[in-house]
Amino acid sequence: MPLSLQTPSITPTASGRTTPLGHFRELVYDTASKFKTEADSEAHKIFRESAGHTPRGLLPQTVNPDEETVPGIEHPGSTGVIYCSDRAMANGFSYTSSHEWANLGQGAPEVGEIPNAPERPTTIQLPLDSLEYAPTTGVKELREAVAKLYNHTYRQGKPSQYTYENVCIVPGGRAGLSRVAAVVGDVYCSYQIPDYTAYDQMLSAFKRLVPVPTALDPQNKYRMDLDQLRKDIRTQGLEVVLASNPRNPTGQVVQGEELRELVQMGRESSTTLILDEFYSWYIYPEQEADFGKSVSSAEYVEDVNEDSIIIVDGLTKNWRLPGFRVCWVVGPKNLITALSQSGSFLDGGASHPLQLAALPLLDLEHVQKEKIALQRHFKMKRDHVLKRLERLGLKVAVPPESTFYVWLNLEHLPAPLNNGLTFFEELLKEKCIVIPGIFFDINPAHRRNLFSSPCHHFVRLSFGPPIESLDMGIDAMARVLKRAKKEGLHAFGHSYKKSLDGSGSGLQHHV
Ligand SMILES: Cc1ncc(COP(=O)(O)O)c(C=O)c1O
Repeated sequence: MPLSLQTPSITPTASGRTTPLGHFRELVYDTASKFKTEADSEAHKIFRESAGHTPRGLLPQTVNPDEETVPGIEHPGSTGVIYCSDRAMANGFSYTSSHEWANLGQGAPEVGEIPNAPERPTTIQLPLDSLEYAPTTGVKELREAVAKLYNHTYRQGKPSQYTYENVCIVPGGRAGLSRVAAVVGDVYCSYQIPDYTAYDQMLSAFKRLVPVPTALDPQNKYRMDLDQLRKDIRTQGLEVVLASNPRNPTGQVVQGEELRELVQMGRESSTTLILDEFYSWYIYPEQEADFGKSVSSAEYVEDVNEDSIIIVDGLTKNWRLPGFRVCWVVGPKNLITALSQSGSFLDGGASHPLQLAALPLLDLEHVQKEKIALQRHFKMKRDHVLKRLERLGLKVAVPPESTFYVWLNLEHLPAPLNNGLTFFEELLKEKCIVIPGIFFDINPAHRRNLFSSPCHHFVRLSFGPPIESLDMGIDAMARVLKRAKKEGLHAFGHSYKKSLDGSGSGLQHHV
C-alpha cells in the first residue's frame, strides 16, 4: 500500500508556514517500499539480536536453546528500560555526558524543587529500632497514615473505612505488583494493550495466572470498553483484571461515573480488579476549583473488605520520590495477609528507616500542597510539549489528560521514520532518548511480528524531566525532521552503532 501522506505534518499551518515535513513527497516512495517487514529494518534487527528478543518459532517453546547459556535459565528478554539504556550507551550516553542528553524516555518525574511545592526531604533519621527488619506488611504507623489519607481523600461520610489492616507497605510499585501476581491462582487474568511495560514480564514470570489480552481502540481514545469487558468476564470467565489507571503510556484515565461502573462491575461479577494508580495525582483540570483533586477507585468501593479492588500506589510518582522505594497496596484484609506471605519470600519488605521518613509526607496538609503544585507544574509542561510538537507537524491525536506521557503516533511520517524503533534510533544520534511503542505491547510470549504490533508506529515521550530537557528533546526531533526534509530519507534507517555489553547497567531511569 502506498504510504499515506494525508497528514497535517506536511500541510501549511494556519499561519501559512510549512512545517519541517513539508515538500517531501517526492523523496518518500522508494524508501517506503524498502521498509515493509522486520527483515528490512536495521533497528528491528538490532532489537532481535539482543538477549531474549530472538523471534521464537510458531510452536510454543519453553526454552529457546540459543539463549539457554546457563543451564535451566531462560532469559526473560531485556525490559524496555534496559534495552533503551543499552542503545543510548552504544550511542555515547554515560553518566558523565548525561547533561548533554535529553531523556524523554524517563519514566520518572523530576525530583527537584518545583514552584509552590513543600521543600524536598533532605535527611533521614536512623533510630536504633529502625535498624531491625520492619514487618513484611510495613510499619503500622505508616499503614495507618495511608488508610487515613484514602479515607480523607476518597471516603468521607462512607460507613466502611480503611484501617491499617487494609494496607500493605511494599518496596516500590513493581514489588507491590509482583507480590499481588505471586498470589493470583490458576485463573484468566485480563490486561489491555498498550499498558505499563513491566506487566509483560510480570505476567509471564508468575506462571499460574493465564494472561488474556484485549487491544484498546485508538479510535475510541484507548478507552477501556466496559461493555466488552463485561462480556469477556461472562464468556471467557476472567477472574482478574489488571490495568494502570491513569494509564501509562496513553495518558488516558477512567474516572467519575465510568470508574464507578468499573468498580461496580467487579463487585457484581466477583472479579478482582488490580488497579495500578501510580499516576493518581497527575490529573490536569480545566477548572481552577478542581486543582488538588485526584483519582482513585477507592472512592467507589462500598465495603473495603468485601469489594475485591486492589489499589497499588506510592511515593514514586505522586510524591516525586522514586528513590524512596516506599509504596503500598490497599485492598481487603484477606488480601493483605496474603501479601504479607508473598512479601516474606519475594522482597522482605520496604526499608525501615525510609518508611519512618515517609510518615510526615503523608500529612494531609502536606499532601494537598504537593498535589496542587504538581498539577500546575506538570500541566504547564504538558501544554508546552503539545504546542511544540504541533508546530513540528507532530500533532498528538490523543493528548494526555493524565500521567506525564505523550503517546505519539508517527504513522503519517515517511518510512522509515514512521516506526517507533527506527525513530528512536535516529533520535539517539541526536542525543535524545524516547521509548519505542513496542515495549508497551504487552506480549508475554514475545511471538508477535513487531511490524504487526498495534504499537509499531508509536513512541512514548515523557514530560517528567525539567522543562529545559523537554526543549532539548524536541529540538532534537526538529533536527531529525529537518534533515529528512533537506537530505531525503536515504540517510535514515541504517548505520546504527552496535550495542555494548548488553547489561544496561549504566542508566536506571524507568520506563
Ligand atoms: C503504571 C506504573 N506502575 C508502577 C510503576 C513502578 O513503580 P516503582 O518504580 O515504584 O516500582 C510505574 C513506573 O514507571 C508505572 O508506570
